[in-house]
Amino acid sequence: MLAVKGRFQEINMIIAIDGPAGTGKSTIASMIAEKLNITFLNSGGFYRTLTIAILDAGIDYKDEKATVDFCKQQKIEYTKESHFILNGTDVTAHLHDDRVAANVSQVSSIVEVRHFVNDLMREITKSLSIVCEGRDMTTVVFPMAEYKVYLDASSEVRAQRRFDQGVSDMTFEEIKAAIEKRDEM
Ligand code: DC
Repeated sequence: MLAVKGRFQEINMIIAIDGPAGTGKSTIASMIAEKLNITFLNSGGFYRTLTIAILDAGIDYKDEKATVDFCKQQKIEYTKESHFILNGTDVTAHLHDDRVAANVSQVSSIVEVRHFVNDLMREITKSLSIVCEGRDMTTVVFPMAEYKVYLDASSEVRAQRRFDQGVSDMTFEEIKAAIEKRDEM
């Protein structure tokens, strides 16, 4: 087992957490990051940051080639405090804006965009020890991670967690249906 002495140890450790929506991946990842004093890498935030750039520039993401070309021109920096800097501007406070929520899954479904984001995340681990969470983390992005966790729970439990977070206007039943649809996709 790797000893974690601080943020700047020579060998960078990767802890990868995978699993469906609403299982507590972010909650657990944040707790681990705090406890071990390493960085929480929020993979969904990269797709959210790119979505902000795409919407601001008026790019039509249905044109996948134009979208990928545009994404490759964006400068995204990730700070040790888990902030996203897009072309020099901190966009962290806007990652969960409604317009981002409404478009991010389409952006994240473009395969070349996923490759771009995965490369960005791998680059970050060259200088930081991280705990990361999100789809593909344990299989595609960091198959070599020292620790891999797959979190799961029933759709009832996951919908209840989302509902209790109080960030959605949807009813419990609507959230549960949305989660089950996302699982299927
Ligand atoms: O976890 P989140 O809600 O912040 O993720 C935002 C979007 O990005 C969501 O549509 C799922 C997608 N995503 C992904 O496709 N792969 C990841 N590793 C993380 C998020």
